Amino acid sequence: MNKTIAITRGDGCGPEVVEEGIKILKTISEYTEFNFEFKEAPAGGNVWKKSGSNLPEKSFEIIKKSDSLLFGAIGLPDLPPGVAESAILWIRQELDLYVNLRPIKLYDTLRDRCPLKDEFIGEGIDITFVRENTEGIYKGIGEISEEKAQSLMLYTKKGCERIIRYAYEFAKNMGHKKITSVDKANVLKTSQFWRKIFHTIGNTYPSIQKEDVYIDSFCQWLIRAPYSYETVVTGNMFGDIISDEGAFLIGSLGMAASGNINPGKVSMYEPIHGSAPDIAGKGIANPIGTILSVKLMMEESFNSPEIGNLIDKAVEEALKEGRTMDIESKSCKTLTTIEMGNLIANKLKNMLKK
Ligand code: NAI
Ligand code: MG
Repeated sequence: MNKTIAITRGDGCGPEVVEEGIKILKTISEYTEFNFEFKEAPAGGNVWKKSGSNLPEKSFEIIKKSDSLLFGAIGLPDLPPGVAESAILWIRQELDLYVNLRPIKLYDTLRDRCPLKDEFIGEGIDITFVRENTEGIYKGIGEISEEKAQSLMLYTKKGCERIIRYAYEFAKNMGHKKITSVDKANVLKTSQFWRKIFHTIGNTYPSIQKEDVYIDSFCQWLIRAPYSYETVVTGNMFGDIISDEGAFLIGSLGMAASGNINPGKVSMYEPIHGSAPDIAGKGIANPIGTILSVKLMMEESFNSPEIGNLIDKAVEEALKEGRTMDIESKSCKTLTTIEMGNLIANKLKNMLKK
């Protein structure tokens, strides 16, 4: 199975972690029927400095023609905010990547790195946030003057239906018993609209338990009883906020993966962290967020949950032997970015060879 993967290494620690993601893809290429070809599609701050564009036409053409995109992180401290980063919003809008999938899973070996007390972790944390990624207040509709500013929170029936349906299908495929919708229907019209669609579509999934939680309440439940959530579906802004809150529960920002997905079309997979200028170039960034983004790519774009599962197992095994500095422990070796990537790739290789 030949697949072309566009590679955007990006700025700061982006290139360091992407290299480890590629290592995993090359391992898959070597030991399975997949055959990956990589095409560089530079974007971000460093490219902007050279060319005046954060997403040169040539890069975008490569992305559009690929089967998938592995993306590092972009942004440089010596550029004004947004100069590099707007490329991400552009890609999301242009490719209509309406699903933002953000799983947060606390590996048992990292329980000690979770900021919550053990009793709140309970039987463990394994939540997938399904965030609407193209509508709502982040669409950028609004105006600003000296006297006032406004941003329009616009949701369409089509936009809500497709993300909510995706979330139900996801929950069903994962064997989840419950789906939680997070909104603010006690105040916002957009949330009342959303909630109605959530239940209308829900009627066709009778075996899945449905739950509505207000965003403010959810923020406290997420740290009080994270073990009680499985699939969580929500709008663009709420999803942005709660998925970052969730990401911190799994030990480090460097552990969290994400997919920006348009099912069946070119989709973009990236760690949720930024370019981390404070640690860039030191070889200490945690590559696991990127490696787990490759896992999502295998599952969502290449229809290969089996390989996704093996990547998950390889990460879990590797964490028992070594860890990068952000999640270091006295009980195992502290590894560089490259060493962490090698360890996981080796574990995966041994599993694929069997
Ligand atoms: P950041 O995520 O880059 O860093 C926050 C903290 O987490 C830092 O202390 C950093 O060292 C640590 N960290 C991040 N990734 C890590 C990893 N893989 N391993 C270990 N530690 C890690 O967020 P920050 O500092 O707010 O943003 C830096 C730049 O990145 C900014 O220009 C920002 O706009 C951009 N950014 C880009 C994103 C993207 O490309 N998707 C997402 C978020 C921020
Ligand atoms: Mg965010």
